[in-house]
Amino acid sequence: MAAWTTEFKQRFKPGEVDFRKSQAELFNAQALIYITLPKDLSLWSVHDIGAFTQTLVLSATAQGLASITAYELVKFPTLVKEIMAIPDSETLAVGVALGYASTDPLNSFSPNKLTLEQIATFKD
Ligand SMILES: Cc1cc2nc3c(=O)[nH]c(=O)nc-3n(C[C@H](O)[C@H](O)[C@H](O)COP(=O)(O)O)c2cc1C
Repeated sequence: MAAWTTEFKQRFKPGEVDFRKSQAELFNAQALIYITLPKDLSLWSVHDIGAFTQTLVLSATAQGLASITAYELVKFPTLVKEIMAIPDSETLAVGVALGYASTDPLNSFSPNKLTLEQIATFKD
């Protein structure tokens, strides 16, 4: 997140984009998807949630849609659960906003990723 902030400040001049507004307006997305997890499952299911969500956004990309996985969408879980009629037996894990991307410069920001060598250790 620290690297993200540094990159963001390098990429945009102050006031050039409105990051907070975009978050507050839920990215102005045409659709929101909420990923939930039954509370009685084991912690292993946390792995499945990540895999499922990634496959979902890759599939959306393949269909020409933009997406963003976001904490911002589940910041008020009680409200979301009420509006979406999610039962108490489910944990609200994360949200994914989907839609056709506008030309807002915010949508062109894609922070650098660590290289393979930085995240993996190879042994002969
Ligand atoms: C669990 C999770 C929660 C996230 N929450 C937010 C968020 O609330 N707001 C946001 O702008 N990006 C959030 N992100 C980051 C974006 O989903 C995305 O990874 C980032 O904008 C980089 O996009 P890119 O990987 O397509 O370059 C979150 C990512 C994850 C995995």
